Amino acid sequence: MRLQGKVAIVTGGGSGIGQGIAKRLGCEGARVIIDYVGSEAGADDTRRAIEACGSQGEVVQADVTKMDDDRKLVDTAWDRFGSADILVNNAGMEKRSDFWDTPEDEYDKVMAVNLRGPFFLTQAFVRRLREAQKPGRIVNISSVHEDMAFPGFTTYCCSKGGLRMMMRNLAVELGPLGITVNNIAPGAIATPINKALLEDKPKLNALLKNIPLGRLGTPEDVAGMVAFLASDDASYISGATFLVDGGLMRSYHEQ
Ligand code: BGC
Repeated sequence: MRLQGKVAIVTGGGSGIGQGIAKRLGCEGARVIIDYVGSEAGADDTRRAIEACGSQGEVVQADVTKMDDDRKLVDTAWDRFGSADILVNNAGMEKRSDFWDTPEDEYDKVMAVNLRGPFFLTQAFVRRLREAQKPGRIVNISSVHEDMAFPGFTTYCCSKGGLRMMMRNLAVELGPLGITVNNIAPGAIATPINKALLEDKPKLNALLKNIPLGRLGTPEDVAGMVAFLASDDASYISGATFLVDGGLMRSYHEQ
């Protein structure tokens, strides 16, 4: 149990990668604030899984795009569990559209969830740590697309590229406070965000050809890296992105 006595906040903890992360941190001994927006039943499942591991979870409905909700998440961690040591900015979304057709509201929504949310939730988290003079860990769930192009998903790439620079900047600015900041860049993970792809066999097979390990990733694959970055073993690691992509980022094939 690497995280005994720690408190973690995980956004988007009711489904997909966030659910895998929240469960893993809980089973490593952390008490977990499980944030969700739509998937209450999923968030309850996450809490039950954490309890089954002998730890505690608290389900909180909060929309990371709203600053009041960001403060609520951090305040709940302190009120319920006495602190917050680990923040996992996981909640995210993507929308497919050709660049020339992308509507304003789609741009605003993707940027709000994927970049503005992590920005202001991290701000609320850091303010409390600073007041309490406590160190902390911040892990952002980014994407291989913080670096790699993804035609048809320019809003998503803008948000993840922004998250990459947010991480790099904060690693420098928050280091003196004892706060580490890192990104995880998952590749193709089987979760609800990928529903359309999972249901399109030819597309899925083409993608699998690009993944050297020959399979999609799982939320547990990503959760293992979060558990490491939140642990004492990672106390000297900050300002880096860790690929969890089965080799996708380095893959190129001539047909
Ligand atoms: C996206 C997926 C995509 C994967 C690999 C992820 O960040 O959410 O839709 O399949 O990257 O391209």
